[in-house]
Amino acid sequence: MKKIKLDTLPPKGLHGTVDIPGDKSISHRALMVGAISEGQTTINHFLWSQDCQNTLEALRQLGIKIEANKEQVIVHGKGVRGLEASAQPLEMGNSGTTTRLLMGLLAGTDFTSRLQGDSSLSKRPMKRVAEPLSKMGAQIETTKLGTLPVIVKGSKIHGTKLQLQVASAQVKSAVIFAALQADTPMTVIEKLPTRNHTELMLRKFGADISTEKDQKTINIKPANRLRGQVVNVPGDISSAAFFLVAATIVPNSRITLKNVSLNPTRTGILNVLKRMGANFKILYRENNDESYGDIEISASNLKPVRITGVEIPALIDELPLVALLAACADGKSEIRGAAELRVKETDRISTVTQELSKLGVSVTELPDGMIIHGRKNWKTNTVELDSHGDHRIGMMLAVAALRTDQELYLNDPAAIAVSYPSFFEDLKSLLNVRK
Ligand code: S3P
Repeated sequence: MKKIKLDTLPPKGLHGTVDIPGDKSISHRALMVGAISEGQTTINHFLWSQDCQNTLEALRQLGIKIEANKEQVIVHGKGVRGLEASAQPLEMGNSGTTTRLLMGLLAGTDFTSRLQGDSSLSKRPMKRVAEPLSKMGAQIETTKLGTLPVIVKGSKIHGTKLQLQVASAQVKSAVIFAALQADTPMTVIEKLPTRNHTELMLRKFGADISTEKDQKTINIKPANRLRGQVVNVPGDISSAAFFLVAATIVPNSRITLKNVSLNPTRTGILNVLKRMGANFKILYRENNDESYGDIEISASNLKPVRITGVEIPALIDELPLVALLAACADGKSEIRGAAELRVKETDRISTVTQELSKLGVSVTELPDGMIIHGRKNWKTNTVELDSHGDHRIGMMLAVAALRTDQELYLNDPAAIAVSYPSFFEDLKSLLNVRK
């Protein structure tokens, strides 16, 4: 397994501008919704990462023609009932989003599909999707443990009223995709509002889908016809978050992040940064179905923070970074109601605790979160950090290293390509601009 030397404290801080790569959640959805629409869907600023490539290849296997170059992806959609059986199993790699959303998309077909993934994905729960879909008439088999490989036997789907048991945009999206193929309307009620990219995108493509005032109840009518569109993917706030945090915790920094998604179901990290005393402003903002803008942020001292359940969905992927912010804030911080972290690419409560402890941070693991006693300077006692094969843990540790002046190494940095292949290049560009 490869190991790399990490950059440590840059005395003059981080400076410069990063154009943030496309949003992962929106890139997956643009491919899938394009595939079940009629005509051509053009995707600009698509995220070329391993996870999104898994979705692209799986759709090709399902008979969809997709032309792709670095600048643009063109999906030649075949309509709501246009997917075709794949002779080979569908390879999901490390991608939970590909797997769970496809389970919904395949539920109402007239053929059988087999979905398989890598060792990390094969440990993650799939019953949370199979169960609600089966209440709609889907026939889905998982292993006894409720994991991959999954067999989806296409069947007749009926709309119903369903209350979801976990706050998960992936589960909600699977149900919505299945509901498009149903014979009657569907209502899905979430535990807490989660990212709404599927709803926004389907509305853009002509589906009859509406969200009630509570932001948790979604009504979907069966779709006979969706029409291909042009999708401009904004930058992923979950990728921008690594640099938002880096600029905040590395003294003397001032950077600008361009084209960052500002969809309110995703901006929990901005609320937390504000509460902790971070110093940022939104320079420019474009409000349309998927809002985005430019953010300028500079270094600041931080106050401890307390995060509880209702806030979690809007910053679920940023919680390792919130732990890092807390580690730099003088005093006791708490993250609660975040048990979902245990079923991500790794058990992120455990991996964050292990790795921040190596850096000399005092972290106590809770069943549903962490207590972190932060301080300005850590007593780092290890030189070898580990991504545990989890992209977001790897990038969080690369940012944490910038806070120390000790020689540090990261095991398995390759995992980062799952969501942000150019992460180290972009980080280097901020280290090389000297003010
Ligand atoms: C995602 C939803 C979230 C998130 C993941 C992407 C999506 O997962 O953690 O990175 O695109 O719908 P859950 O639905 O499991 O919360």
